[in-house]
Amino acid sequence: MKINSSKIDIIDVTDDPGLERFLYRCIFHSKVDSSINAPYLKHRERSEYLGFAIPKGFRKKVLFLEGDHIGMIEYAPVEASGLPIVGENIIVMNCIWVHRKARGLNLGKRLMKEMMETEKQVAGFATLALEDYWMMWMRKSEIEKLGFMSIESTRLKHRTYHIEKSFRMHLMWLPVTKNERRPAWDKSKLLEGVRFCPYHPIYRDRYGIKKLNIQEIYEEHW
Ligand SMILES: CC(C)(COP(=O)(O)OP(=O)(O)OC[C@H]1O[C@@H](n2cnc3c(N)ncnc32)[C@H](O)[C@@H]1OP(=O)(O)O)[C@@H](O)C(=O)NCCC(=O)NCCS
Repeated sequence: MKINSSKIDIIDVTDDPGLERFLYRCIFHSKVDSSINAPYLKHRERSEYLGFAIPKGFRKKVLFLEGDHIGMIEYAPVEASGLPIVGENIIVMNCIWVHRKARGLNLGKRLMKEMMETEKQVAGFATLALEDYWMMWMRKSEIEKLGFMSIESTRLKHRTYHIEKSFRMHLMWLPVTKNERRPAWDKSKLLEGVRFCPYHPIYRDRYGIKKLNIQEIYEEHW
């Protein structure tokens, strides 16, 4: 089912002080309506990332459906990416999310269209996706539905958390034309985990890692 466009607003919240809350909180509350005015914390590493990435072209856009914030997309040029991806003239999608209650309404595709129409002169779009992960988070199968394909993958295991489990991480790519040069990932940075978002499944400072004072918190698992 497609939604009438007049019911949808996609707002760039990057530079709007009145909407700063969306740079720090996403739409993770199930009672979406009541959460909009809730207080929000400015997580230190998130602040540092935003301070670095916004001047380099980071954008976060929130999709409102009849006034409800129901989806978002966050991306940046590869130089300001929150994910350990390298390449030339690439936009890295840090995250995309459509609330469960609005899935399958073409809103994910709308957010993708918004990003792709804004960022026209690029070779393509890249992101990370997970397979066999125990939480529903940027699943490979969902990200493929948005047009990305996996161009590389590795199986990872956290050093302290769920050490009995492993999952597969994929580098996902959506080129603008067929012959574009592919991105790569920075494997050692991948093994360190990410810092741009404290909710990301491979956020590095979760699970007591800080105390261990080690650099690589993931190991490859064959
Ligand atoms: C990936 C995601 C953004 C897609 O959003 P969505 O609004 O449901 O997607 P759309 O309705 O635009 O559908 C995209 C495509 O997938 C297909 N699709 C969507 N849901 C589907 C389903 N359950 N089964 C099969 N196909 C499906 C659609 O048909 C569409 O393909 P088409 O254009 O060829 O018809 C959404 O599933 C999501 O947010 N997942 C969680 C992502 C996540 O973990 N983010 C981090 C959270 S912090």
